[in-house]
Amino acid sequence: MEKGLLSGKNMIQLNRPSLFKNSNFYSGEWKTFSKVIPVFDPATGQKIGEVPDLPREEVRKALEFAEKSQKNWAKTIPKQRARFLRNWADLMIQNKEDLAKIMTWEQGKPLAESRGEIDYAASYLEWFSEEAKRAYGDLIPTHRKEVRLMAWKEPVGVTGILTPWNFPSSMITRKIGPALAAGCVVISKPSELTPYSAIALAVLAEEAGIPSGVFQVVTGQPEPIANEFLENKIVRKISFTGSTRVGKILLEKSASQVKRISLELGGNAPFIVFADANIKEAIRGGIASKFRNAGQTCVCTNRFLVEEKVAEEFAYGLAEEVSKFKVGNGFEDGVNIGPLIHSAAVKKVDSHLKDAIEKGGKLLIGGKPHSLGGNFYEPSVLSGISEKSLCFQEETFGPLAPIKSFKTEEEALQIANSSDVGLASYVYTNDPARIWRISEALEAGMVSVNEGILSTEQVPFGGVKESGMGREGSKYGIEEYQEIKYVCWGGQY
Ligand code: SIN
Repeated sequence: MEKGLLSGKNMIQLNRPSLFKNSNFYSGEWKTFSKVIPVFDPATGQKIGEVPDLPREEVRKALEFAEKSQKNWAKTIPKQRARFLRNWADLMIQNKEDLAKIMTWEQGKPLAESRGEIDYAASYLEWFSEEAKRAYGDLIPTHRKEVRLMAWKEPVGVTGILTPWNFPSSMITRKIGPALAAGCVVISKPSELTPYSAIALAVLAEEAGIPSGVFQVVTGQPEPIANEFLENKIVRKISFTGSTRVGKILLEKSASQVKRISLELGGNAPFIVFADANIKEAIRGGIASKFRNAGQTCVCTNRFLVEEKVAEEFAYGLAEEVSKFKVGNGFEDGVNIGPLIHSAAVKKVDSHLKDAIEKGGKLLIGGKPHSLGGNFYEPSVLSGISEKSLCFQEETFGPLAPIKSFKTEEEALQIANSSDVGLASYVYTNDPARIWRISEALEAGMVSVNEGILSTEQVPFGGVKESGMGREGSKYGIEEYQEIKYVCWGGQY
């Protein structure tokens, strides 16, 4: 087996160094390009490599290659597609350690979280390998005796996916799994900040026997690639995970060709704790929900709302747990909070924190950039937050836990639903009637009751309002990549 250190000052050791490539996989081969984008380790600031900065002409070539592959892929029998996906998932698990190291290197999250993400990412390929075989149609009761009516599923066609830096593997497999299962071929444009996880996935796809035009990876600046996806008629479907701002642009621009589009956008998750809840459990759940990936998760708690009677107990309990965090390079043992992705993210967290204090918030722990410097920020807890604070109005996307108390259930719901976005929401209570009431009343695509982590491949992941459209994962996820064809068959008798 190949084994080796990747060169440079900031080295990592991989069992298979060939999983780390500075090239793209498109038009049937691995290619480099004269223009490149440097990629940096967010923990050290050191350059870890350079990937192609592809112009639209190169992306067009990838799309033309995809178009040629689309017909054949759509015709493969579902069981064969299922086998490819399953092989790919198995290879991800076999190479988990290397994939996790690549992820920590480029994204910064602690190694244990990266290992968890590889499991999570592979689970989408495994799940949709199973769903591929169950894409049933219908025989519809007829309206005339000489006519038979049917509806069956067909792939939408060539799909362009645009994915973010916070989950560099799982946000890709959550889209590729259902797309390939449905019979669509995919061109993947990963974030330019974390391209290496996607490139490693392409190495494994080839090894899994997936034909070269079925999964291609192109790297570069977001705008030219997205514009090519939007303006080229070959692309019939776009799936995007990222900010609401960019999602709206994609939605508007995709209208001119009426392209199918799935959007998983920003959140502003409320975490509501009632006095009848198990407060220790609520603190445990709050820590998991708020600080996963250093708070850089769309479903992260953004606003803690705690019933007045237990607000102090909750706030000090949360701060005490936060004081146990070890901040540092994700490769170090025991680290549970890594760096933020870049300096702009640090600035944003710091400005939200300062604004919250100016508007009356009380700092319980943290409060400034970490003494490690660079992209590290102290995990912070604030109580007494004003609803007008930026950290309640916008997604902070960092390790800042703002707490506001409330008096009544109505007040908590009013604040929770006051946002334009509605992705995840969390509620802690032991009152079954309230669980029903709140779950029905919360304007969110996902409600988590007495539990801080809700993500898994079996469930429909997605939001309402400006958090997007469509669902990923679950039995519904494949529908985003299918058309329904109705066939009316006459002359039967
Ligand atoms: C996201 O941040 O968009 C994804 C998080 C998850 O799948 O849990």
